[in-house]
Amino acid sequence: MNLKDKVDLGNLPRHIAVIMDGNGRWAKRRGGLRIFGHQNAIKAVRDTVEAAAELGVEYLTLYAFSTENWSRPAEEVSALMTLLVSTIRKETATLNKNNIRLQTIGNTASLPKACQRELMEAMELTKHNTRMTLVLALSYSGRWDITQAVQRLASEAGQGNIKADEINEASIAEYLSTTGMPDPELLIRTSGEQRISNFLLWQLAYTELYITELLWPDFRKEHLYEAILSYQSRERRFGKTSEQITK
Ligand code: IPE
Ligand code: IPE
Ligand code: MG
Repeated sequence: MNLKDKVDLGNLPRHIAVIMDGNGRWAKRRGGLRIFGHQNAIKAVRDTVEAAAELGVEYLTLYAFSTENWSRPAEEVSALMTLLVSTIRKETATLNKNNIRLQTIGNTASLPKACQRELMEAMELTKHNTRMTLVLALSYSGRWDITQAVQRLASEAGQGNIKADEINEASIAEYLSTTGMPDPELLIRTSGEQRISNFLLWQLAYTELYITELLWPDFRKEHLYEAILSYQSRERRFGKTSEQITK
């Protein structure tokens, strides 16, 4: 029995988030430049998107570029942006063929205009697709997300549209960039780093973490199945006792 057949389709995470890390180290091991690693990350993205959609995952959120990544060397940032544009252009047809809708979260207004245009076009072309939503986190950080939510909530409160004591977890979630999406049940991070790196801080409150030593360019469908199988072997207690969960 292969790994895919072991996955319990009745207990799939509805939303999987991925910190795609380790491209630079992957390239370095091969004596290449960091961008060589980024270029070789596309295959991993393709495989992961395809595998998640085939299984029936509803949302797949990929951390592609963080707020902090703007501080990398200018040539790396620019190469990443170029790669983003060319990949979106190439992959939109496949997204449509596979009935996958593209969305973004993050401060996308800070991306180069060409990226913004390409993203807008791809989102427009795929907006009616229903099988899975692929969310690219671009110029994203959890603190940025919470800050923009607080700003907009405060502005609504200032205009008298919402009362301060009516603000609750549900209304905060509504103002986050992930509005309408379930919180991720599973977070995968490659390259062995055991940290969140300012990803979905609010949304990851009760997410199961899966960290693999694999570097992102080596990640394939089988590795996604492994992560899901690990998730499915866990007991999610949400603060309760094990007895409460199993009875
Ligand atoms: C992840 O790989 C890709 C991005 C952050 C854009 P890295 O570029 O962080 O690779 P390492 O962590 O340096 O190996
Ligand atoms: C996290 O990776 C961001 C993305 C994968 C886009 P980093 O490589 O930027 O994270 P740190 O700096 O090692 O925490
Ligand atoms: Mg990294």
